[in-house]
Parts: sequence; C-alpha cells; structure tokens
Amino acid sequence: MFFRRKFPGQATLLLTLLICESVLAADADREAGKLAYNQCIGCHSFAYHRTGPKHCNLIGRIAGTAKNFEYSDAMHISRVVWSRETLNDFLASPLTYMPGTSMGFIGVKNSDQRMNLVEYLVHQSESDQCDP
Ligand code: HEC
Repeated sequence: MFFRRKFPGQATLLLTLLICESVLAADADREAGKLAYNQCIGCHSFAYHRTGPKHCNLIGRIAGTAKNFEYSDAMHISRVVWSRETLNDFLASPLTYMPGTSMGFIGVKNSDQRMNLVEYLVHQSESDQCDP
C-alpha cells in the first residue's frame, strides 16, 4: 500500500523501462550487425554498386534486379525475394544456397552474427541514405 501511494506511476514506469530496454536491445543488435557488415564493404555499399550490387531497398525486392548491375545468370533467374529468411539462408552459405552466384564470399557461419547482420540490412536498406 505504502509503495503504491508513494509510487503511483510505478506500472507506467515499469512499462516505459521495459520498452526502453527492448529498443536498446534492438539498437545493440544493429550495432553488432553494423560490425558484421564490415565483411561486406569490400564489395558492397548501400547507396552505390561496387563489385557487388547496392543494398538499398533490398527487402521485398526480387534477387538480381537492381538497375545497372550485371548479375550472374544464377542470381538473375533465381526468383528469390529478399526477406529476413532468404537473406539469412543466402548469407549462411551463398554458394550452397545459390550455386553459380558470382558472390565470392564464404558466408557468415555464426547464426547470431548473421541474425544481427540481417537486422542491420533490413533497417539500413530503408534508411535516409537510401532515399532517392
Ligand atoms: C568478394 C565480394 C563480395 C563480398 C565480400 C560480399 N558480396 Fe554480396 N555480392 C557480390 C556480388 C558480385 C554479387 C552479385 C552476385 C551474382 O550476381 O550472382 C553479390 C550479391 C549480393 C546480394 C544480392 C543482391 C541483389 O541485388 O539481389 C546480397 C543480398 C548480398 N550480396 C549481400 C552481401 C552481404 C550481406 C555481404 C557481407 C556479409 C556480402 N554480400 C559480401 C560480391 C560480394
């Protein structure tokens, strides 16, 4: 009772703390994902094509369809639609998932690291730097 009278807003406070915590956790995962993306920046950027295609607006896009990038036939005809699931599977082992792809990268073997990386890709591919 005393506690209740003294802290009437405790439920709200608790809720706020819980929400903040999950937002912070998501931020932390994305930070880890950003670090993992260091494995990609030799060939990719979000806004520009490099050796690999740009990563802006990746989610929901059919694989191999970024304009002005020359893909392998394997990627071009794959009809894969990029989502959290397909990115996770592709990035675990690109050549197993898509035999014939010209992405010369062994894959991200650690599943936690891969999950954080995918979250980072999802978030970043729709960020301000990707606005037309
Ligand atoms: C050695 C260079 C290289 C590295 C390193 C690399 N990629 Fe790629 N990536 C490519 C190339 C080249 C393609 C086009 C592949 C094709 O046409 O088969 C590609 C294609 C992709 C695609 C398909 C995009 C589309 O437009 O459909 C995704 C997604 C992707 N890479 C993600 C990543 C991520 C995430 C990393 C880091 C973990 C990474 N790549 C590391 C070269 C690279």
